[in-house]
Amino acid sequence: MISIKSEREIALMREAGKYNIKTFKEVEKYLKPGVTTKYLDKIVHDFIVKNGCVPATLGYEGYPASVCISVNDEVVHGIPGKRVLKNGDIVSLDLVLSYKGYHADATRTYIIGDVPDEVKALVEDTKGAFYAGVSCVKEGARIRDISRAIEDYAHKHGLSVVEELVGHGIGSKMHEEPDVPNFDDNNRTKLKAGMTIAIEPMLNLGSKEVVMADDDWTVKTLDGKPSAHYENTVLVTKDGYEILTGE
Ligand code: MF3
Ligand code: CO
Repeated sequence: MISIKSEREIALMREAGKYNIKTFKEVEKYLKPGVTTKYLDKIVHDFIVKNGCVPATLGYEGYPASVCISVNDEVVHGIPGKRVLKNGDIVSLDLVLSYKGYHADATRTYIIGDVPDEVKALVEDTKGAFYAGVSCVKEGARIRDISRAIEDYAHKHGLSVVEELVGHGIGSKMHEEPDVPNFDDNNRTKLKAGMTIAIEPMLNLGSKEVVMADDDWTVKTLDGKPSAHYENTVLVTKDGYEILTGE
């Protein structure tokens, strides 16, 4: 069953979304060469708590941090630690918080200093793929419309699509039905106004294959080439959508 949110629930998710974006604005101040990923996690944690929200990933199935930080060939679920960001890195921050029991989930990939043009394009095109997908959202559209739009956009830009991880419904739980894949799996489920979903393309510069790192959390590209991730929490409306974690 895919839940339809009430006006009250939607209002709370809007609030959660605003806090999520405020947290990004805060942590962006610290995103410079020389900073450790652990320090960024502390900034995120303290800001979320200060705002009366709950860091949703902390303790989730044993995940030990308030934000997933994935660098270069790390696709998702990197664990903040002693790693120091350096010029030429790309770093994705995947941040989920809840406010009065309702979740907002968003990811941004940042460029640290100078990167080759193809890596810059990877980061920009992953954001573009999100917008290609979200532009299909409205009541009556199917999940596969979103998936296909993302996949087509990625392939047109010479990028591959990670298939092991997918977008998802979101609300009083971080992960709800339905799955929202970034490739066409022929899901004909129709969207209805009041559904809330996280759309999150994870695109690779090289091949789509990924492997699990020794920490049993970090997912990396098999070929060691960079990967980018972009995500927002989105409300389905009668004629379109509202991005709840917008800019
Ligand atoms: N934002 C991630 C997602 O979209 C959640 C991180 S999962 C965790 O599903 F287990 F690491 F918390
Ligand atoms: Co998500």
